[in-house]
Amino acid sequence: MADLHQFREAPEEPLDCIYILQSTDSDGLGGLEFSAKERKSLRAKAKALGPRGEEGEMISGECPLDIAHRVTFVGIGAENEVTHSRMREALVRVMRQATKNREYQIALGVPVKVHGLGAAESRLFVLREASISDYTYDQFKSKKNEFEKIDGLHILPLVKESEEELEERLEKVRLLRTSQQLARDLSNRPANDLNPETFAQAAKEMSEEVKGLRVTILGIKELQKEKMGGILGVSQGSEQEPRMIVIEHRPKKPKKSVVLVGKGVTFDSGGISIKPAAGMGAMKADMVGGATVMGVMRAVAELDLPIKVVGLIPAVENMPSGSAIRPGDVLTTANGKTVEVDNTDAEGRLILADALHYSARFNPDIVIDFASLTGACVVALGHEAAGMMGNDDDLLDELRKLGEEVGERVWPLPLYDEYLSYLKSEWADIKNVGGRWGGPVTAGTFLKQWVPEKVSWAHIDIAGVGYNEKEHNGLPKGASGFGVVLTATFLEKLLK
Ligand code: BES
Ligand code: ZN
Repeated sequence: MADLHQFREAPEEPLDCIYILQSTDSDGLGGLEFSAKERKSLRAKAKALGPRGEEGEMISGECPLDIAHRVTFVGIGAENEVTHSRMREALVRVMRQATKNREYQIALGVPVKVHGLGAAESRLFVLREASISDYTYDQFKSKKNEFEKIDGLHILPLVKESEEELEERLEKVRLLRTSQQLARDLSNRPANDLNPETFAQAAKEMSEEVKGLRVTILGIKELQKEKMGGILGVSQGSEQEPRMIVIEHRPKKPKKSVVLVGKGVTFDSGGISIKPAAGMGAMKADMVGGATVMGVMRAVAELDLPIKVVGLIPAVENMPSGSAIRPGDVLTTANGKTVEVDNTDAEGRLILADALHYSARFNPDIVIDFASLTGACVVALGHEAAGMMGNDDDLLDELRKLGEEVGERVWPLPLYDEYLSYLKSEWADIKNVGGRWGGPVTAGTFLKQWVPEKVSWAHIDIAGVGYNEKEHNGLPKGASGFGVVLTATFLEKLLK
């Protein structure tokens, strides 16, 4: 991705193009840190070119300042309609256009705010999204994607945004985008490249790259010792052995203790309850929850947060075979609870049960799990928000508000006691599916049975937001990295 700089002085070589976002309410030039003279000549240019700020509009001309060859005015519509999605889309349009025109050094001025956000929150969102808007995954393509060629993204300061202030923001953004990129790359990797073992390797590599992380891998022997029948059961149909990835960040004198759990199914065929063929390829990304946890752990280490944070990623492949679990099988999970497997495609909750139980040994105050858990959650909320459940309304409230701010929405769903009756089994303590109704909440109710006592817990079902079958809301086709920014920001705020 492009190097991120702030733009203060005229460069030795003029940049290829300056991009300036405009709304229909204002030409935005008053919001950017130009001299009066520069502003005047840009205004004259704008007047000649006649942009109106309408969404989708892109009007270019020769740049009247000697800092760049060209200037392009990018319309984003009415100010009070600038959502997170519209802002992302506008930024992607910039990258597309620059790529098409072979402009590899560009400046970007975004004097427009995301509607409803404070100035600082909006600025951080814009910088974050601009920095990752040229993301593509082309690891396995001989001909690389063009996006990659944009070398330098030079951010124009806002009026009264000091050099130190902008540099501090950019530093944070660089760090978060590396974590988001890691989460996206992991999720986009095909299942013949990313399996439980290589997932564990990636965690090891990360711990060598950044300071402050310790990675331990539980293999099949350790999983047996811990009696993790959920993880062992789900993985027994696959040639790939399961792993539990444990990533610890343990500062001296930590202020809080948090465990993050991420579903790491590197491929979900459904198992014996096999999925239909159409769209099954997307199930390479049934480990987006685990990828989110990896990304957050990286950010936590780089930010050097004085919080004990432990990431747990149960990693398995769910396959049908002669050795696979069958519907009707009974598994015994790590806390001794037995589960009747009524549907082998409801495998995520089986592995998360063991991981949630394991979280107790880190004495967490808070446990948050991320999982692409149910198709029903996508039916309920589409691709606009993750479903969120838990046992502590304050925690859920805080996450919901923060999600709205950072552009990773999480929407609360209830966990009424009555849902437990949906999971009643004739043959074991509980069944892994709850029938036709209430898919996300019966899944959440199932997980709740393994959450340690006295812990604030949130379960975030990211089935609809972790991976996009096509480009959506300015997010690329494939993995979004959903949850990395939300969680990293949440952890930072815990200190306040
Ligand atoms: N990995 C799926 C959930 C999913 C669906 C993720 C769509 C992303 C997009 C999960 O393991 C699953 O198959 N869940 C079942 C549960 C059912 C059998 C109770 C589902 O949603 O159909
Ligand atoms: Zn499944």
